[in-house]
Amino acid sequence: MNEIYRLKPSSIFDVCNEEVFLEREDPDHGDYINCRDHYELFYAISKYYEPDSILEIGTRNGYSLYSLVMGSDYINTVVGYDKEDDYVATTIENLSPNIPSGINFNVEAIDTKEVDELNSNYRLIHIDGDKSFNSTYHDLKLTRGKCRVVLVSDFYSERSVRDATQRFVYDNKERIKQTHVVESLRGIYIIEYRG
Ligand SMILES: C[S@@+](CC[C@H](N)C(=O)[O-])C[C@H]1O[C@@H](n2cnc3c(N)ncnc32)[C@H](O)[C@@H]1O
Repeated sequence: MNEIYRLKPSSIFDVCNEEVFLEREDPDHGDYINCRDHYELFYAISKYYEPDSILEIGTRNGYSLYSLVMGSDYINTVVGYDKEDDYVATTIENLSPNIPSGINFNVEAIDTKEVDELNSNYRLIHIDGDKSFNSTYHDLKLTRGKCRVVLVSDFYSERSVRDATQRFVYDNKERIKQTHVVESLRGIYIIEYRG
């Protein structure tokens, strides 16, 4: 998986439309958007796995989902969930004109706390919603049998995410082929399921 670092662009703006990153000049958000070690690595991870389908839990304005979509040359299905209607609307408005045409793209107002089972399978699922231990563990459980690769954001920056992810990996070790931590700004944990 070290190849992921080789696939990282120097800046996400070299490979994506920078206007999608709405808050790139906002002092409260510009730090991580412009740090060159955050969205660049989502792009690189997607280039490494080349998923044809992606689900993201927690889209906010769609920045990481957009970076993942643009990284894969094989993408045909993109689904986002966010519990906030405003973020669902912004993600749709922001990404629709900027992702390649022909992609089946859908963003839904869904609170994953209310979801017991995902109704579709995906190649890759990115978990970036509620950061509490219980919600992270719950979102991870939703991925079982539903994808080949899981990304968990904020593995270093959120203790509750790290604890829940490590607990989940221990509890499900028979199902998991390998795991890896990507050394990004906040840490991205990768779980590859067997099969
Ligand atoms: C850290 S932000 C996501 C950032 C985004 N993935 C990015 O990097 O551009 C977390 C998002 O998760 C959403 N969220 C929090 N809890 C959720 C839940 N239980 N179900 C769905 N979305 C949730 C929030 O509304 C927020 O937009």
